[in-house]
Amino acid sequence: MPTPVQCAIVIFGASGDLAQLKLVPAIYELLREGLISDRFALVGFARSDKKKDGTPLNDESYRKECYDAIDKNARHRPIDQNLWKKMEQNIFYIHGNYDSPDDQAHLASVLSRLDKTHDTGGNRLFYISTPPEVFDGIITRIGERQKMQSPDRPAGWQRLIIEKPFGRDLASAKHLNSLLHQYLQENQIFRIDHYLGKEALQNMMVMRFANSIFEPIWNYKYIDHVQLTVSETLSSDDRAGYYDKSGAMRDMIQNHIFQLMALVAMEPPVALDATSIRDEKVKVYQSIRPIRAEQFDTFCVRGQYGPGEYMNKDKKIATPGYTKAKGVAPGSRTETFAAVKLFIDNWRWSGTPFYIRTGKCLASKLSEVAVRFRSPPLTLFQKQCSAIFPNDLIIRVQPEEGISWRLNAKVPGGQMTIKSVALDMFYKTAFNVEPPEAYERLIYDALTGDQTLFIRGDEAEAAWQVIDPIEQYWATSKTPPQEYKPGSWGPDKAMELIEDDGRRWIQNEDGEAEPIVVCRL
Ligand code: BG6
Repeated sequence: MPTPVQCAIVIFGASGDLAQLKLVPAIYELLREGLISDRFALVGFARSDKKKDGTPLNDESYRKECYDAIDKNARHRPIDQNLWKKMEQNIFYIHGNYDSPDDQAHLASVLSRLDKTHDTGGNRLFYISTPPEVFDGIITRIGERQKMQSPDRPAGWQRLIIEKPFGRDLASAKHLNSLLHQYLQENQIFRIDHYLGKEALQNMMVMRFANSIFEPIWNYKYIDHVQLTVSETLSSDDRAGYYDKSGAMRDMIQNHIFQLMALVAMEPPVALDATSIRDEKVKVYQSIRPIRAEQFDTFCVRGQYGPGEYMNKDKKIATPGYTKAKGVAPGSRTETFAAVKLFIDNWRWSGTPFYIRTGKCLASKLSEVAVRFRSPPLTLFQKQCSAIFPNDLIIRVQPEEGISWRLNAKVPGGQMTIKSVALDMFYKTAFNVEPPEAYERLIYDALTGDQTLFIRGDEAEAAWQVIDPIEQYWATSKTPPQEYKPGSWGPDKAMELIEDDGRRWIQNEDGEAEPIVVCRL
């Protein structure tokens, strides 16, 4: 049984959506599981001194806000009232400016007091969950305080989780890294990407390296190509302030999808520790073949949803189109859909394309990796069949986390009929448990100092190195993003990206992947 962690957790951006939707409920779950001890404190820090409805924000009203967040978003509900009674006494709220030395001094004094009253042991986890504009101020102030720690403070660790976006290009990521390193050691810095906390991503290494069947075929000789799809049915209409400055490439590909790709493509690490694993992921990014100037238009696609209707969680929703949403700059060229074809130029993946796509307002919510194997060298059924479909390994990140193999099999009976069948593993039924929320796992790892599922500074920079040239090309390109219909699979050009190579997206307009019956004698 792991030892419960004794600590103070400070959330900067305490009144934001992420804190309410994910962070506070995750902390409640960790307390429930006994992974955080009752010698803990949760301090919300934000600029506002009032709630949206005008009521003052203070310890008492923030506790109420936390209760509502847990009540609405925790995995285990209804709330355990006994646990809540203990938890609420440990929750505090401070309003102040992120870069004000006085307000940070006030926070420091509150934390020192909590060391005494709540026995938090001098351990501090700072969670930066604010808009990126204020990252610098927070890091600087925390760093300064760390340097002037009072001698009577109990010994303890200090760690910092920083939310994405980690920069908006290579230069800004380098700047953030150097600011962080001015005050903190790399082993105190936890750059979070919540995809790494998802079970399916963690299982990727187990699947690849704890089974002997994959390694011999996990290369260009047997794999024709890899598809990575993260499609969302949500629009970005109510997050325009952030999204319009970001776009799908920065918001999803540079981080979440690249993490997925790195886990699929990396070499076996020498050990299962954070350094060895992250070394291998960096090598994947460094091996990505640069896209040549004349290739940008054929290797990269950007799209923007137009007006129309789409389905989200079984509800039909109408959107006026991306550029008409509140907060979007007139004539904005921000992409709500991005697709790209990449090659990883190393011994394992030489010549194997990785097709990536992601977007908002698409046909379904789905995150998956599809590994398509080469067709058998000799088609024994050639005379009788028009086609035998190749094998696919589908790794579903969400929904319904699991793994599925698609194989060809003979349909029982007198006729020779071959069908493509699926061997399916669903986490829910295989293990009879609901996978925990990614944030629970990641906050716990940060509390225990395990950096394996976090992004190292050089890793973030290496990922930007791949994205920067595409963003620079798009910034000056005369071709605007191609409009697509909400509720579709994205712009036509995304189909051409793969179809021009004689391949197809496995999930496409036809719905159920490719036809199931493949030949009949
Ligand atoms: C966030 C992006 O990081 O991930 C959002 O900023 C996106 O735009 C979200 O919707 C997707 O996360 P998930 O876990 O729902 O796939």
